Amino acid sequence: MADEKKSDYILEIVHLSKSFGKNQVLKEVNVRIKRGTVMGLMGENGAGKSTMMKCLFGMYARDTGTIRLDGKAVDFKSSREALENGVAMVHQELNQCLNRTIQDNMFLGRYYTSYGVINEKSMYKKCLEMFHRLDMNFNPKTPIASLSVSQRQMVEIAKAVSYNAKVIVLDEPTSSLSEVETKKLFKIIRSLKKQGISFVFISHKMNEIFEICDNIVVLRDGEVTLDKPIPDTNLDEIVQAMIGRSLSSRFPPLTNKPGDVVLSVTALETKYRPHLTDIDFNLRKGEILGIYGLVGAGRSELLECLFGCRTVSQGAIRYKGKRVLFTSPQEAMKHNFAFVTEERKVSGMFPNASLTFNTCITNLNKYKAKFALVNSKMNKATDRQIKQMHVKCNNRDDKIMALSGGNQQKVIVAKWLERSPDVFLMDEPTRGIDIMAKYQIYQLMIDLAKQGKSIIMVSSEMPEILGVTNRIVVMSNYHIAGELETKTATQEQIMRLCAKYL
Ligand SMILES: Nc1ncnc2c1ncn2[C@@H]1O[C@H](COP(=O)(O)OP(=O)(O)OP(=O)(O)O)[C@@H](O)[C@H]1O
Ligand SMILES: [Mg+2]
Repeated sequence: MADEKKSDYILEIVHLSKSFGKNQVLKEVNVRIKRGTVMGLMGENGAGKSTMMKCLFGMYARDTGTIRLDGKAVDFKSSREALENGVAMVHQELNQCLNRTIQDNMFLGRYYTSYGVINEKSMYKKCLEMFHRLDMNFNPKTPIASLSVSQRQMVEIAKAVSYNAKVIVLDEPTSSLSEVETKKLFKIIRSLKKQGISFVFISHKMNEIFEICDNIVVLRDGEVTLDKPIPDTNLDEIVQAMIGRSLSSRFPPLTNKPGDVVLSVTALETKYRPHLTDIDFNLRKGEILGIYGLVGAGRSELLECLFGCRTVSQGAIRYKGKRVLFTSPQEAMKHNFAFVTEERKVSGMFPNASLTFNTCITNLNKYKAKFALVNSKMNKATDRQIKQMHVKCNNRDDKIMALSGGNQQKVIVAKWLERSPDVFLMDEPTRGIDIMAKYQIYQLMIDLAKQGKSIIMVSSEMPEILGVTNRIVVMSNYHIAGELETKTATQEQIMRLCAKYL
């Protein structure tokens, strides 16, 4: 061995502080990660998790603090520099060139060339090798846009590994993965761990933290409130560290009473790929209907059909007894349908606009007087939603982009709540939302249902599907595989239905 003693820690973050204006987001944070371990990073929405990582990657300039990689002080100026030095990050909101292939995205900025010409062949080969090593099944020539969010995430991980990363930061990697895919990801993490790679794993899902992490660090308002090996802590202690008190139950009591059928779908099929076939189900007044299925089972496509964003070729949708076929979202909105989409960055918000704009945009009529919009009305509505949803922000003039991921999601849900929709379609509504805020959203859903509104919620989280719905429809490979009463449904029944048409 060389005489210099290598630190036990691959990465050390010491006394890190960061403010945005007057808002001090990180306060003298200390975090250390051992080689070949997984460190869980938890905390409420807006606690400072992503900011800490962005400081590490030089995407934000830190105010104070030192970062040591492998015992040496480093100061990355960009995520690219970090990547080249072995620190990679898979972002909460993926940044990929959607209209390019997997291969192009893997090699972006470092194309293989021979004699000045891009060498497609060797990149292709290298990609295949990489995917093989990670047990992923992709064709490098596939356009990124045709992949699901989860598949795109896998590509990002493969890219990190291909840079020989020593530390990989995963910012809520499983927020859009199904359980099966999560298991697959964990398998990859475990095998990379054995090769000495360390991970920072940011997540709001407790069970995953316990399953995959060796240590846990909890941030609360920019301060470390817990830092322990996983075997030495428990759920209560973590929740306590996160929200400052304990939480007796994850779900509010389900007190809504579903009534008569309001929406019925019979023998529905879609015109374009992917083809939904034989879709039959009902939705009742005042009901919360869960739709479960593996990622790629057609759940989002089904919601898109109902909201008029997909062409239906056969079958019927009846709403309040009348046959309807929405050919555009506007039409669906006229019937007072609302739709929280899965990909907030693409279809859910105006990133550079204010919270007020983003809250009021779906519902401008409500704030109109004669010809003009009334600012005071919009401001009042926004403030009410900020309070109701506990959005962590300075004020309603903040750009939505400046909020943490979970808080952006809250604004998107709030925007539709403002319409007080009769049929509320929600695609993974609590994705990326912390444990307290989830509870609040569940409570809002139950309250809406009690007012006679109907909700269809697509979710990949088994506890949530079992905890907050009245009935569950399970989809498998673009078919409806079955229907269960939530009260008596078991996890096993649901998983079996998921596999029915595979
Ligand atoms: N570019 C920015 N400008 C101003 N404020 C910002 C900016 N980025 C983050 N913040 C603020 O910093 C705080 C912490 O945000 P951060 O994104 O780190 O939270 P987080 O812990 O990752 O939350 P989540 O679980 O919702 O992803 C938030 O209050 C946010 O508004
Ligand atoms: Mg974040």
